[in-house]
Amino acid sequence: MTSSQVTAGKAKRGRASSPAWLFFQRWLANPLAMGSITPSSAALRRIVRDNIICGPDQIVAEFGGGTGAITKAMLEAGIPGDRVYSFEIDKELAGYLREFYPDIHVVHDDCRKVAQILGPERVGKVGTVIIGIPMITLPMDLQREIVAATFSVMPEGSRFLLYTYMIHSPLNQKELGLKGKRVGFTPMNIPPASVWAYWKA
Ligand SMILES: C[S@@+](CC[C@H](N)C(=O)[O-])C[C@H]1O[C@@H](n2cnc3c(N)ncnc32)[C@H](O)[C@@H]1O
Repeated sequence: MTSSQVTAGKAKRGRASSPAWLFFQRWLANPLAMGSITPSSAALRRIVRDNIICGPDQIVAEFGGGTGAITKAMLEAGIPGDRVYSFEIDKELAGYLREFYPDIHVVHDDCRKVAQILGPERVGKVGTVIIGIPMITLPMDLQREIVAATFSVMPEGSRFLLYTYMIHSPLNQKELGLKGKRVGFTPMNIPPASVWAYWKA
């Protein structure tokens, strides 16, 4: 990987701003991309953690790292930091992630470029993609592109995870050629949230 947007392992901890305050500020700047005024909870993170699949020769990727509330799930699942990738399009949030997760790969870029950024040696090796982007707020074409980018880096037959505040599936499965099921729900999140797993129909 040669991308200059990618770093792992060098940054320091200790930025003054709290994650909740930074998250709120970025929500004010871009409410549609953020989708929520507050970071995800530990309860939601645990559901994501328990649904991550990542074999010994695989990596795991998160789209929309934010302030890292769900990023931690990948480490808690026992995956070494050098096999964890978090894509975050917002420069300030990407900088924050780098400070708090110095041992993972933080990619300050659009997740739709995931295949290009991971490169041929990692494409097909992503065991799970966790989508933290508020897909429901995006036009269908953009949703299609994100779903296509997701499947492009995972082995055939894989599923991706998506968390949502909606009661029903946040993705139109017919339009996107998906099958999916809710794998967990927690009322201990603001607002209460579910985790869905999706795979190709
Ligand atoms: C709802 S927040 C989730 C943040 C965090 N994972 C959490 O659960 O608290 C969505 C994040 O996705 C990021 N995002 C939106 N579109 C993106 C894209 N195309 N590529 C990468 N990140 C994106 C936003 O900047 C924002 O930080």
